[in-house]
Amino acid sequence: KRLILIGPPGSGKGTQSPVIKDEYCLCHLATGDMLRAAVAAKTPLGIKAKEAMDKGELVSDDLVVGIIDEALKKPSCQKGFILDGFPRTVVQAEKLDEMLQNRGTKVDKVLNFAIDDAILEERITGRWIHPASGRSYHTKFAPPKVPGIDDVTGEPLIQRKDDTAAVLKSRLESFHRQTEPVIDYYAKKNMVVNLPAEKPPQTVTSEVKKALS
Ligand code: AP5
Ligand code: ZN
Repeated sequence: KRLILIGPPGSGKGTQSPVIKDEYCLCHLATGDMLRAAVAAKTPLGIKAKEAMDKGELVSDDLVVGIIDEALKKPSCQKGFILDGFPRTVVQAEKLDEMLQNRGTKVDKVLNFAIDDAILEERITGRWIHPASGRSYHTKFAPPKVPGIDDVTGEPLIQRKDDTAAVLKSRLESFHRQTEPVIDYYAKKNMVVNLPAEKPPQTVTSEVKKALS
């Protein structure tokens, strides 16, 4: 399966991805995770991306298209993939079509994590992540067994620098202005499945499985 996950910050893309990935043996490509790794490692890419990310703005289309083009070459992505957080602009969607066409393949479905903005601040400000794996927790909705510690590795959890109420506002603004048109782009091609992303994680998971069966 070749899937795109679209939704505002905190809508549950990163939470559902590992479940979908394991169920269908896909690779999980999250541009946000890849960019954060580049920022942490201070690579040239990371240095270019940091300023926009800290402000909650999108990094340039060329940068993320380059990352995805590279990542899609991985052997683990040949059977199928989950794109989490990409494409986020219509230009990125067009470039993706082109990249996949060149590889003789295409996207099967677009999962739209539909949710009201009002719910997202609590989700975002309560999130803790394990940066190496991308696993995320929530102080109220998905607490780790030991506060501040990753269940699997025992390593410390951190909060994302952009997970503040103030930066969330700008991330939501980018979503409505630049990413919602991407949903329309795929809706015109009848590829979009709407998920009730405000429901508990297990409910969202079963809706995903229904949509993909
Ligand atoms: P990115 O990392 O993609 O962030 P985002 O889109 O803002 O999405 P989030 O990771 O915040 O949300 P999520 O949907 O994954 O939520 P999660 O499942 O963790 O991008 C970061 C930045 O990188 C961008 O701002 C931009 O600068 C740059 N960037 C990335 N891609 C780009 C691109 N293509 N083009 C240009 N720039 C790009 O859940 C959130 C919390 O809620 C967790 O704590 C979780 O435990 C909890 N939770 C999840 N589901 C539920 C539920 N059903 N009920 C209750 N709690 C839940
Ligand atoms: Zn995410």
